[in-house]
This record gives sequence, structure tokens and C-alpha cells, in this order.
Amino acid sequence: MALKDPIARLKLILPLLATAALLAFPACDAERRKSDAELGLNPQQAAGRRIYDNYCDRCHAPYSSRGRQGPSMKGVFKRQYLPVSGMPANDDRVSDIIRMGRNKMPGYTQVLNQQQMDDLLAYLHTL
Ligand code: HEC
Repeated sequence: MALKDPIARLKLILPLLATAALLAFPACDAERRKSDAELGLNPQQAAGRRIYDNYCDRCHAPYSSRGRQGPSMKGVFKRQYLPVSGMPANDDRVSDIIRMGRNKMPGYTQVLNQQQMDDLLAYLHTL
């Protein structure tokens, strides 16, 4: 049979190795992205998630505590104080930071209207 031929044997083994690598790799980093339904988001929170994905996700991880350019947003409203600024973790202070920006974080006054801010905050409360 063709398996005696080393090339044929390689052709058989390589896809297996590739599959094994694919299966092993995601386990060490990002989890599969969950759907809005899996996260139990209501329509407003889901709208906030779209805004987060567009403007915040590149600098702030939502579901892992790993930092990106900015600190993780995981559990941002679950603590009493924000970890970097030390400000109280409430809607007013977080809205201020989002509107004005801080250090390397840009401000979003010109970008997000009040409805979008409300949606974004609703989503941040689910993290
Ligand atoms: C270019 C990267 C970048 C983007 C985009 C960005 N941020 Fe930030 N953010 C940062 C950095 C850096 C800090 C830390 C600022 C400091 O030094 O206090 C921060 C701080 C924060 C804080 C306060 C954290 C704390 O512990 O004090 C909040 C809340 C926050 N960002 C939310 C957001 C949200 C919501 C968005 C999307 C609308 C966003 N950020 C977009 C980089 C970013």
C-alpha cells in the first residue's frame, strides 16, 4: 500500500499534526467569543457590547484580567474603586473617564451620544 512510501506517510501525518496544534492552541489563549445570548445580554447591553467592541476592546480586555494598552474591564463595577485611577467605581466617575479620557486613553465626548453612553455603561455592568 502507499503508506510504505515516506511521502505518503507524511501526507497522512501532517494533517493530524495540524489538527492537534489547532486543538491545543486556543486552550492557552483567547476563549471562543461567546454570543450575546450565551452572555445573557438584554438588547441594551448587547448594543453596548457593539460599542465596546468598536471603541474599547483594543485597549481593554472584557473577560480576562489581562491588561492590553489599558487595564482589564473584567468586573469593573464589582469593585469599590477603579484599580488604576483609584476613583469610585460608579456610573458618574466611569462616564467622566470615558468622556474626558485619561493619560493615554482618548476621550469620547465627540464620538458617543447619551444613548450610546447609557448602552455602554449597561454593558460594562455585566462584566
Ligand atoms: C488607546 C487605548 C484605549 C482606548 C481605545 C480606551 N481606553 Fe480606557 N484606558 C486606557 C488607559 C491607558 C487607561 C489608564 C489611564 C490612566 O493612566 O489612568 C484607561 C483607563 C480606563 C478606565 C479607568 C480604569 C481605572 O482603573 O482607573 C476606564 C473605566 C476605561 N478606561 C474605560 C474605557 C472604555 C469604556 C473605552 C471605550 C469607550 C476605553 N476605555 C477606550 C486606554 C484606552
